[in-house]
Amino acid sequence: MHADDIMDVVTIEQQANQFPWSKTNFEDCLKAHNDAWVFVNDLDEIVGYTIVQRVVDEAHLLNICVKQNEQGQGLGRKILNHVIEFATSISSVLIVLEVRSSNQRAQQLYLQAGFNEMSVRKNYYPAKEGREDAILMGLDLDLMSLFSE
Ligand SMILES: CC(C)(COP(=O)(O)OP(=O)(O)OC[C@H]1O[C@@H](n2cnc3c(N)ncnc32)[C@H](O)[C@@H]1OP(=O)(O)O)[C@@H](O)C(=O)NCCC(=O)NCCS
Repeated sequence: MHADDIMDVVTIEQQANQFPWSKTNFEDCLKAHNDAWVFVNDLDEIVGYTIVQRVVDEAHLLNICVKQNEQGQGLGRKILNHVIEFATSISSVLIVLEVRSSNQRAQQLYLQAGFNEMSVRKNYYPAKEGREDAILMGLDLDLMSLFSE
């Protein structure tokens, strides 16, 4: 993801999320040199993106999103696999992320990829009515490498 991708990314973000990140959030991530990718279709249009922050030997998945009309066709899984391959390649021991308790679709995606629920952050997110819990999920890459040997 480069600075000139951000306008398209923000449009996708706003359509796909009830509480979207702002343009500044994305700009700050690039300024902070987080690892960020966009994924394009055959017409070179952005259809998904993800941002990962390295924290010592962990990879924090800050954002993953697929354009609304492209969802449900396997792209989210491809993007998540890319994150797992990247985190493995930089020798991260763990990928962690937070997901809204109501976001069953994303939780299914993570569970299928081998993530486990680690804990719950109560009332972490603003919600339509009041607040909503965050589920903290993790993928232990050390454990994964044992299984793949
Ligand atoms: C979550 C998200 C990235 C998934 O991407 P996607 O391209 O739609 O997902 P895929 O087509 O790769 O599907 C992967 C898995 O997700 C789950 N999934 C996808 N669509 C689903 C639906 N409508 N209902 C429930 N689970 C669903 C399934 O487990 C699916 O695996 P399966 O097809 O073997 O059943 C996408 O829906 C999205 O961008 N949502 C808005 C942003 C968001 O919530 N990001 C995550 C924040 S933590």
